[in-house]
Amino acid sequence: MYISDIVPFVDLKSQWAEIEEEALPMVRKLLQRGELIGGYEVYSFEEEFANYIGAKHCIALSSGTAALHYALRAMGVGNGDEVITAANTFIATAEAIVLAGATPVLVDITDDGIHPSVENFIHAITEKTKALIPVHLYGFPMDLTGLYEFIKNKNIRILEDACQAHGAKINGRIIGKDCDAAAFSFYPSKNLGACGDAGAIVTNDDILASDLRMLRNHGSIKKYEHHLIGSTERMDVIQACILRKKLTKLDDWNKRRREIAQYYTDNLADIKGIWFPKESLNAEACYHLFVVHYEKRDELAQELNKNGIETGFHYPLPIHLMKPFSFLGKNHNSFPNAEKKCKSTLSLPIGPHLTISQAKKVSEAVRFFVEGK
Ligand SMILES: Cc1ncc(COP(=O)(O)O)c(C=O)c1O
Repeated sequence: MYISDIVPFVDLKSQWAEIEEEALPMVRKLLQRGELIGGYEVYSFEEEFANYIGAKHCIALSSGTAALHYALRAMGVGNGDEVITAANTFIATAEAIVLAGATPVLVDITDDGIHPSVENFIHAITEKTKALIPVHLYGFPMDLTGLYEFIKNKNIRILEDACQAHGAKINGRIIGKDCDAAAFSFYPSKNLGACGDAGAIVTNDDILASDLRMLRNHGSIKKYEHHLIGSTERMDVIQACILRKKLTKLDDWNKRRREIAQYYTDNLADIKGIWFPKESLNAEACYHLFVVHYEKRDELAQELNKNGIETGFHYPLPIHLMKPFSFLGKNHNSFPNAEKKCKSTLSLPIGPHLTISQAKKVSEAVRFFVEGK
């Protein structure tokens, strides 16, 4: 098979080709100026991303994991506290809770969806609950109106895991705009991806923002004046440069992802045995991933890979069945809906540079495998 026949799962080369001409001189200038920590590019990115989201603050950090971990710390989460999140998220969501010193309390997803319901979160709240982390999985935004209502006047914070949800909207509002705090990852394959690791928190809370600015920088704002135990979790300047350039493309790239998702929807929906999440009427997903569920997903993945179609599993195991989380004392059947989804999940190629003819090849290969025609 020729390389050109391969349908890549993620196409970072084409993204770079779109920004190279403008991004490279920016990086060169940065290196010539020797401005290698913080400075103009990072502050500009913070301002531009905060404006894009419509939030008061953006605090640029070294990764999405650092964003989740440090936001929890800035919210005062620590030893003895419980933080509730979904059983079917990426490990980093649960890791951040443990890194902050708290205990993850997992909740199952609904049997006909990919997220826990608001009621599932509410039922899991105890007097130890300090924070909730709903995850806008795959770029499908959750409607958290009921959850924000419920925690009003309670000492519970909401940290939205928006690591897969750059530009997604719910009730016409972009994710991150009206939140307590939202964590973004700029891991290269994300809808807005750096050329290495990077992340950010957006928030409208002045105190949270100011604590996060300190935590990422050894607890200090002014050199050698330390107020908190923090660490080195600042965003790298080169990442900020690349992100500034890519941010100008994000809406177009998300639009393109939605066109591909529509193509898949139109061409896969009638295949018996294939299920995939659909947007609710009040949602505009940014389709970080296009995930289908099929009972024989391993065989389907193998067949697609044989045809040069790259795929992924997001995620093959729910959190409670991962070795590092055995201490939670959960087992098979603790969260049956999440477990069932993890066994059948298969992510198809999607991205701003995937062509309709590539999406056609993928759809036809899926249909051929499932229906034999
Ligand atoms: C849902 C979710 N949460 C957290 C993270 C962690 O982000 P990072 O890889 O930037 O640390 C990711 C990244 O893959 C993610 O998808």
